[in-house]
Amino acid sequence: MPIDLTTEEEQLLESDVPAERKSMELLVRLGDIFGAEEFVEIGSAQASGISYKSIGDPGVEFLEGFAEEGAEVDVETFANPAGMDINRWEEMGVSEEFARQQRRIVGALREMGVTVSFTCTPYLAGNLPGPNEHIAWAESSAVSFANSVIGARTNREGGPSALAAAITGRTPKHGLHLAENRQPTHLVNVDVPLETQADFAALGSWTGRIVEDGKPYFVGIESATTDQLKSLGAAMAATGAVALHFVGGLTTDADPPDNVETLQFGSEKHESEYAELSSTEDTDLIVFGCPHSSVDEIGTVADRLEGESLERDLWVCTSRSVKSQADRMGYTDTIEDAGGMVLSDTCNVVAPIEELGYESTATDSAKAASYLPGFGDQLVHFDDKLSLLEEAIE
Ligand code: F3S
Repeated sequence: MPIDLTTEEEQLLESDVPAERKSMELLVRLGDIFGAEEFVEIGSAQASGISYKSIGDPGVEFLEGFAEEGAEVDVETFANPAGMDINRWEEMGVSEEFARQQRRIVGALREMGVTVSFTCTPYLAGNLPGPNEHIAWAESSAVSFANSVIGARTNREGGPSALAAAITGRTPKHGLHLAENRQPTHLVNVDVPLETQADFAALGSWTGRIVEDGKPYFVGIESATTDQLKSLGAAMAATGAVALHFVGGLTTDADPPDNVETLQFGSEKHESEYAELSSTEDTDLIVFGCPHSSVDEIGTVADRLEGESLERDLWVCTSRSVKSQADRMGYTDTIEDAGGMVLSDTCNVVAPIEELGYESTATDSAKAASYLPGFGDQLVHFDDKLSLLEEAIE
């Protein structure tokens, strides 16, 4: 049965503004494909696919053309990371041509009214949805955090569908927008203590590969910080397509599941996952901030680097808003005095890292480890932050 449309939605389909009409047409098609019965209004959107590295010249032309066709967001819309720090691209070593094309993308987004926050952790940068609020976010770790930790409702949107939702202020009501689809599918017994963000990332990386797009329910995790939950969700979204998970007592409510597959995660799997993600100790760049760092994470790095000097490059990636907090706390100066860089707007995955001369990367993010160029070619070292810093201090 075709999706039901309100009068306002019918009007959007007939709009004189081409971008509005095309957006609504796309969403109606998607709603029909996924069997949605109606649309739901959204509180915010997250536009992804905005790095020049990811979308190239066709993407630049599409976004500029869409802006010219009257695309204008109807709800608060945050931009995912771009291919460079908008202000420090030269220091990163990004080419003039890349920067020029990236700036065209930024211009088109601004014209549409998108908040050029360039972060995958909008929830740390002023866009915190409420529990049960319907949203249309696109970046997989942000989607996981929004659904699981905050209890908001979003499917993992693609770049075009998130932009269409932003322009029309609505999305087809299917998938994780419906309560009946938000139930656990696997039980994961964790019987190894998890201490660092990397420990949580290793658990997520292992779980994601097994449950794929399932909704795991973890038991045995006594406590976790927001940053640890962020790492867990990002890893599962990277190695699988997990968009919702539960950590008994710590994340959004769900009853422990009955009659589902039960998985065991103990010390042996924990160690083997580190080995799975890490294939070298000889690296020339350390990257933290996948997902984008919180001010606490930056503080941890700064505390360790106080008065030290690094013998290899370090990027700490974050949002502009968190970076300005880190600046005020003196963390940025401490890290940069030691030889690192605190970058905003970008990350090692969407920046043109291959062109910057780096061949091997160290990270505490299972998501970054899985996406880095050369993963599988002995070029990534996965470990916790302090261990990686220890190895890099002169
Ligand atoms: Fe964010 Fe880039 Fe990682 S977008 S989740 S820092 S790959």
